[in-house]
Amino acid sequence: MSDLAARFRALWDEIAPIGRDAGSGGYLRYALTEPELRLRAWYREQADRRGLPVTEDGNGNLLAWWGEADAGNAVLTGSHFDSVPHGGAYDGPLGIVSAFLALDELRAAGVTPARPVVVGAFVEEEGARFGVPCLGSRLLTGALPAQRAAALRDADGVSFADALGHPPAGARPELLGRFSSFVELHVEQGRALADTTAPVAVASAIWPHGRWRFDFTGEGNHAGTTRMADRRDPMLTYAFTVLAANKEARLRGAHATVGRVSVEPNATNAIPSKVTGWLDARAAEPETLAGLVEAVHGKAVERARRDGTEMTVTEESATPLVAFDGGLADRLARLLDAPVLPTGAGHDAGVLAAYLPTAMLFVRNPTGVSHSPAESASDDDCAAGVTALARVLAELAC
Ligand code: GLV
Ligand code: MN
Ligand code: MN
Repeated sequence: MSDLAARFRALWDEIAPIGRDAGSGGYLRYALTEPELRLRAWYREQADRRGLPVTEDGNGNLLAWWGEADAGNAVLTGSHFDSVPHGGAYDGPLGIVSAFLALDELRAAGVTPARPVVVGAFVEEEGARFGVPCLGSRLLTGALPAQRAAALRDADGVSFADALGHPPAGARPELLGRFSSFVELHVEQGRALADTTAPVAVASAIWPHGRWRFDFTGEGNHAGTTRMADRRDPMLTYAFTVLAANKEARLRGAHATVGRVSVEPNATNAIPSKVTGWLDARAAEPETLAGLVEAVHGKAVERARRDGTEMTVTEESATPLVAFDGGLADRLARLLDAPVLPTGAGHDAGVLAAYLPTAMLFVRNPTGVSHSPAESASDDDCAAGVTALARVLAELAC
């Protein structure tokens, strides 16, 4: 193991136990809950150890500054600490740990950046607690109004404003204006690099994607005494909709997933009164995505009519196609001799890309598995990611 890989492992091990579920081995690091707050405290300690003052943007996003906060033209890097339910270790934290180590590499090499380099930690990237992904970056940029974010509630009814401890500040154009670029390093979430000799890639684009909540309502009733012909069972409409989403996505070369469902009253011997399913849909082109969601909606409406149920669809979030700055991606790909890839996964970089030149680096994931405890990356590949990020920061900040 290289010296850098050993340093990566040592720092990684400091956070590895935080929020890990002993049963699944996955992480429960929801935004602003105890494990994520511990990670944020760890982040402040790391920044402190390196003499980097930390500021907060009023929205829950943390920024650790190497250089003067008001110097302008700063280069931002970093990612997020929060996870999906029982998620992997790397999705998010890899970008923050790698950023601190990349700074160490630059300092050890005697590099003095001409402009500030900033390590950021964005809040609620996964949307696992409050439902809207990239909540922190959407707030900072103004892509999501502060009032809407303040009112979002978690499963226990706690509002985002209460979890944060104050109403979110919302758009901070003057803060955003201090950055000249953003580079997010992230574990690769597919197998594109798995069988190549490249440990690191540069992102070209993020597929347009979004989340739609389907609420199906019917009539709760007794499972043993209600004749089959008399039922208004929303579970049937829900089940048909899930199958229709799968079929419609396959027909279009798109992706559709229903990974979350809630059933009321959720009793084995009762016909449900209500079923809510969340559709996550993604496609390479916006028209394909729109066609997919429309088709699934149409099938659900038709089936609801047959089942005697009712249904409504609510768009909870929508992220347009992101084409990362092509000139920047090509420049970084040449610098690193790295391949350039699109992704179907969402990132804060996708939100920030509409406001400042933005790039992403992906670190090889041998199985491609992500949003699962099985997500992985080797220490050597993570070290290669740190080296690549240090080179990119030197290129952009010197
Ligand atoms: C974020 O990880 C997403 O793509 O859902
Ligand atoms: Mn994720
Ligand atoms: Mn992520």
